[in-house]
Amino acid sequence: MQTIAIVNQKGGVGKSTTAVNLGAGLTRQGKKVLLIDADGQANLTEMLGWQQPDELSPTLATLLEQIIADRPISPQDGILHHKEGMDLMPANIELSGLEVSLVNTMSRETVLRTYLSEVKRSYDYILIDCSPSLGMLTLNALTAADKVIIPVQSHYLPVKGLEQLLKTVSKVQRQLNGNLQISGILITMVEGRTNFSKDISQLVRQAYGRDIHVFETEIPRGIKAAEMSAEGASIFAFEPRSAVASAYEQFTKEVLQHEKCREKHSDCQLR
Ligand SMILES: Nc1ncnc2c1ncn2[C@@H]1O[C@H](COP(=O)(O)OP(=O)(O)O)[C@@H](O)[C@H]1O
Ligand SMILES: [Mg+2]
Repeated sequence: MQTIAIVNQKGGVGKSTTAVNLGAGLTRQGKKVLLIDADGQANLTEMLGWQQPDELSPTLATLLEQIIADRPISPQDGILHHKEGMDLMPANIELSGLEVSLVNTMSRETVLRTYLSEVKRSYDYILIDCSPSLGMLTLNALTAADKVIIPVQSHYLPVKGLEQLLKTVSKVQRQLNGNLQISGILITMVEGRTNFSKDISQLVRQAYGRDIHVFETEIPRGIKAAEMSAEGASIFAFEPRSAVASAYEQFTKEVLQHEKCREKHSDCQLR
């Protein structure tokens, strides 16, 4: 079982899109997947077709509140089943309220980890879609995760934001979760026609590639990927023959390969 947090405190870099498509991609490879919407904006919940998240109950906020109150939960509680085969623990606006109250909670960084320990035995992969902040919920995600995937948008040089994120990751590694590893940076929304996009991708590889794995697969920008979010389906169901679909399929395979390599060889050359 692997828990992967999809993190970048910048919004609009493709976190939720990557959660949907990696989740669907892993499911298509025969893995049992749970997606966790850890963003009060509930974009992931909406992208998977639950368009009125505020009408859902229970959601992640409810379950985390139960954990905080030390009340038992049942593992199936609130989990939604998507037609493509993956499961979803949805979010809604209540999660933003919970985030504020977490600050004064005992074990405030480990509430999500405790929740996942209750549900994880049914899954091969849990993917956590984080909010665009490094707030309490993202700290919870990093504390609960084995791996971090960092989507980076190809037409914006992310230097400052990435430094801050990497600092947070290493602080979590030291203080809360010694198990945490950076799986890699995923370059998203690459414009095939512009050199600028390619330059950024080169720059990211030069600046970080020595210390952090940068996935070979890059996700192109595609109209269909933007429309996907209104369809309640992954790119594989919505537009299977698009370049974005084949990129996410390739990316899924890279993630799986990466896993295998690390399992087999402690000196895996893939960082
Ligand atoms: N490969 C892509 N091509 C075109 N549009 C994309 C692509 N990936 C994401 N988008 C769009 O960009 C916006 C931000 O993506 P999203 O996944 O919501 O980012 P985040 O979760 O980091 O805020 C959304 O409108 C989404 O539909
Ligand atoms: Mg998002």
